[in-house]
Amino acid sequence: MSSLHELAHAKINLYLHVTGRRQADGYHLLDSLAVFAGAADRLDLALGNGRGGHVALDIKGRFSAGLGGEDCADNLIVRAGAILRELAGEEVARNLPDVGITLHKELPVASGIGGGSADAAAALRLLLGVWKLSLPPARLNAVATRLGADVPVCLEQRAARMEGIGEVLSPAPHLPPCGMMLVNCGRSVSTPQVFKARAPVFTPRATLPPAWATLADMVRDLADQTNDLQAAACAICPEIVTVLDALRVAPGCRLARMSGSGATCFALFDSPDAARAAQAAVQQAGAHWWVWAGDLCRSTTEARTSIPA
Ligand code: C5P
Repeated sequence: MSSLHELAHAKINLYLHVTGRRQADGYHLLDSLAVFAGAADRLDLALGNGRGGHVALDIKGRFSAGLGGEDCADNLIVRAGAILRELAGEEVARNLPDVGITLHKELPVASGIGGGSADAAAALRLLLGVWKLSLPPARLNAVATRLGADVPVCLEQRAARMEGIGEVLSPAPHLPPCGMMLVNCGRSVSTPQVFKARAPVFTPRATLPPAWATLADMVRDLADQTNDLQAAACAICPEIVTVLDALRVAPGCRLARMSGSGATCFALFDSPDAARAAQAAVQQAGAHWWVWAGDLCRSTTEARTSIPA
């Protein structure tokens, strides 16, 4: 029995502009800068004895109860396996080893930091490797997009600009060193509900430089951008406003904003140590909040995760 693992890092939208709407299905067109935090779920994969490429899923960890009501067949990890089996074709699929995946759910569920998408992407990386399947990049991107609009960026798991509905990726500006804090108030927010509740206006694509030398440069430019879903999410879940207020007055906070469709908010600091130093003060504002402080995932800002070619 061999065991493999992958980390599924939290995806943070430093800004998120809704730039338009796709005619065909009403999905929203976005311009967003996504980065990854050190906070992560973890997936452990063990090879089973049988064949047929079945994926058995076990969920543990701090936020496992958040997925308690979910039928495992609906979980994106299991669906990732089903899509790969379908692509492999019946004959190949019959001989794929069965696997057991344990998801250690350490990120809050339905919280705007792409947890479910990052899990699906990590499962794709694991399964492609263990099943020795290779897909051309465009095909892989299409598979990821079928699983969710955030899955393509999570598959690459490095800072990137997301456009289209999230699947059109281009390099992010070079990022300066900084620290990050993430805070979730403990309420799941429905992404479709937030999109539906937003004011029906569009924001232009941002103009970004190729690099930010310092955090001050980055914060100055980010302050001109917005998360177009923040107001709608705050109306649905007013505690997000309380979280943002607590972050803004935290010592050393340079910028505070909501990520994705919420409810998780992030704050940028000069360094991971500065973020950690402010953690207790923020936790005091909400004893039940999930508060994480640390680094942007440096390896994911510099290097491409190796995906089997
Ligand atoms: O793709 P994903 O399943 O993550 O999206 C969840 C929901 O969020 C979609 O069903 C859609 O209502 C909304 N959405 C959207 N435009 C996007 C991404 C998501 O309208 N670009």
